[in-house]
Amino acid sequence: MKDKVIDIKELCVDFHTQGGIVKAVDHVSFDIRKGEVFALVGESGCGKSTTAMGIMQLIRSPGTISGGEVHFEGRDLLRLSAAEMTKVRGREIGMIFQNPLDSLNPVYTIGGQMMEGLMVEKMDKKEAYQIAFDMLRDVKISDVESRMKSYPHEISGGMRQRVMIGMMLCRNPKLLIADEPTTALDVTIQAGIIQLMNELRQKYGSAVLIITHDFGIVADIADRVGVMYAGNLIEVGEVTEIFDHPKHPYTRLLMKALPTITKEEGRLETIKGTVPNLAEERQGCNFADRCPSCLPQCREKKPVLLEVASGHLCACHLEEGGSNHAR
Ligand SMILES: Nc1ncnc2c1ncn2[C@@H]1O[C@H](COP(=O)(O)OP(=O)(O)OP(=O)(O)O)[C@@H](O)[C@H]1O
Ligand SMILES: [Mg+2]
Repeated sequence: MKDKVIDIKELCVDFHTQGGIVKAVDHVSFDIRKGEVFALVGESGCGKSTTAMGIMQLIRSPGTISGGEVHFEGRDLLRLSAAEMTKVRGREIGMIFQNPLDSLNPVYTIGGQMMEGLMVEKMDKKEAYQIAFDMLRDVKISDVESRMKSYPHEISGGMRQRVMIGMMLCRNPKLLIADEPTTALDVTIQAGIIQLMNELRQKYGSAVLIITHDFGIVADIADRVGVMYAGNLIEVGEVTEIFDHPKHPYTRLLMKALPTITKEEGRLETIKGTVPNLAEERQGCNFADRCPSCLPQCREKKPVLLEVASGHLCACHLEEGGSNHAR
C-alpha cells in the first residue's frame, strides 16, 4: 500500500455524443509504485489518453468523469477543486503530451518558460536559471546557453520533446505521465528519448506512466504493463511475465501485430476487425467479435480481472476456473 505513488480505482470517463454515451474509460483500476515505469498499451481509440486526462482532471466537455477514485499523496484527486488540481499539475504530476508544441508556449523562450515554472516556487531568478541550465544539460541539449534563448519553433521535434521532459522533471514531480512521447519522432530520435527517460527516472526517481503503441518501448523501459481494449483494462502484469506468458487473446494478437516485435519476421500482422462502437450497449466481452478463441459465455457475461499468476491479472473467460480469485 505504502509504496504506491498513485492508485486508480474504477475510473470511468464518458463522452456525451450525438451517437450516445461513449464509455471511453470503463471502470479502469491500476496503481503505480515508487520509481516504477508503468506502460499503458492498446490500439488507437482504446481509452489510453482519456485515462491519463482523467487522472489529470483534464477531461473537457462533452466528456465527464462519471466515477472512480484517483488516490495520490493521501488525497483523491477527483475531489480536489480546480485551484488545488492546478497546483498538483506540473508540480506533483508532470505530463508530456504527444505533440510538445501543444504544451510549449510559442511566445516565450525555452529558458524563460522553464524558469517561470521554477519561479512560481518562490525561487529567485539566478537559482532558477541554474536549475533550468543544468536540466537542459541533463536532457542532452547541446549549446545550452544559446538554446535557453531559443523559441520552441526554432528547435527540432526531438529537442522539443527533450525540453518538455526537462521542464517537467525540473519541478521534481512524483509522477511523470508521458502520452506517446515518441510517436511524432523518427526512429533514432525515439530511441534516444527512451534511453534518456530511462536514465532520468533513475536519477530523479519519478514514477512514470508511459502511453505507447509500441511493445518494443514497453520492453525497453517499463516494469509493468497494462493492456487496454475498448475502455477496459484487460491484462496487467510485470513486463517479463506478460512477454513470456501473455494470457489474453487480445494481448497475444497485439504483441504479434506491433511492428517492433515482428520486424525480424519482416511482416506486420493486423488484428482483424475494429474496436466496437463504444456508444452502444454491449453484453459480454468487448473483444468477443474479434477473438479467435471466443466461447459462448463470452457473448453473455463480461469477464472481470482475475489474478492468473502472482501479480498478473487478466479479464478473460478462458482464464477462469482453476485457483483464480477475484480482486
Ligand atoms: N472529445 C471527445 N468527444 C467524443 N469522443 C471522444 C473524445 N475524445 C475521445 N473520445 C473517444 O474516446 C475513446 C478513447 O479515446 P482515446 O483518445 O483515449 O484513445 P487512445 O487509446 O488514446 O487512442 P490513440 O492511440 O489513437 O491515441 C475513443 O473512442 C474516442 O473516439
Ligand atoms: Mg491517445
